[in-house]
Amino acid sequence: MGSSTSTSPPAGQRLYGRRAIVTGAARGIGAEIARTFAAEGASLVLIDIAADEVHALAKTLECESAVVDLADAGATAAVTQEAIDVLGGVDLLVNNAGVLKMAPILDMTIENWDQTFAINVRSMFVTTQVVGRAMRDQVAAGHMVGGSGGRIINMASMGGKLGSPNQAHYAASKSAVIAFTRVSAMELGCHSINVNCICPGYVLTEMGAATRTPEMVAAWSAKSPLGRLAEPDDVARMALFLASDDAAYCTGQAMNVSGGMVMH
Ligand SMILES: NC(=O)c1ccc[n+]([C@@H]2O[C@H](COP(=O)([O-])OP(=O)(O)OC[C@H]3O[C@@H](n4cnc5c(N)ncnc54)[C@H](O)[C@@H]3O)[C@@H](O)[C@H]2O)c1
Repeated sequence: MGSSTSTSPPAGQRLYGRRAIVTGAARGIGAEIARTFAAEGASLVLIDIAADEVHALAKTLECESAVVDLADAGATAAVTQEAIDVLGGVDLLVNNAGVLKMAPILDMTIENWDQTFAINVRSMFVTTQVVGRAMRDQVAAGHMVGGSGGRIINMASMGGKLGSPNQAHYAASKSAVIAFTRVSAMELGCHSINVNCICPGYVLTEMGAATRTPEMVAAWSAKSPLGRLAEPDDVARMALFLASDDAAYCTGQAMNVSGGMVMH
């Protein structure tokens, strides 16, 4: 593990030698981002609560993994620092982990609301603070791999711009992700750290699978000018763009990957 700054990158590897932390990496969008970043030459620590799955993916990708409940702020800070230590620094952070436990407002429990915000929002603040401090110090010391500063990518959602019934807590949390991204970009830009978020539309992962019917897929697909739902790879490729040198002058943005369901 660690940075690889001594040799020139193999052709086509856009993240060669970059040290990356990805949360919620055991499955779905996070796992696809991990696979994509690994294929592009990044060194990775995968973080998730699902121990067996995250260790298995890390073994496949020949990288490191760590298990934590991101609802636990203290443990999250500790595991994030351990990840930085294992990698020998950090160039990329992807705050991807998120939960959605659907409920109408009139029946929603306080526990559901608090759990949603603890995982979707508070953990992002915690990891950003730990990683942001490390990146600030690395930039000051000239220890960033790749030369274009640090990158933080947060996973928001189309829900943070539009919202859906039974997702008030989720939509509010994803609006918070977008707002936190903007202020992070304002505060961290002076340390050469770009912060952006992604707003996927409906992605075919385990999230939402329990209530997914063919009729629902058809109805949601019809909302997109492209006539289909997203695959995890659609989102991972946006994450790759934001992590790459191509996005050097892009910060504070909420990038839609919604097949045109959202155009603002
Ligand atoms: N699937 C969609 O339609 C969709 C749309 C927009 C945004 N998103 C967002 O994309 C991100 C990834 O979603 P996904 O569809 O891949 O979901 P998923 O449920 O398939 O995967 C989520 C991952 O996060 C991990 N996780 C959940 N709670 C955790 C905790 N407390 N501590 C550590 N890890 C935890 C899970 O174990 C899992 O590996 C989420 O932030 C989600 O809100 C998803």
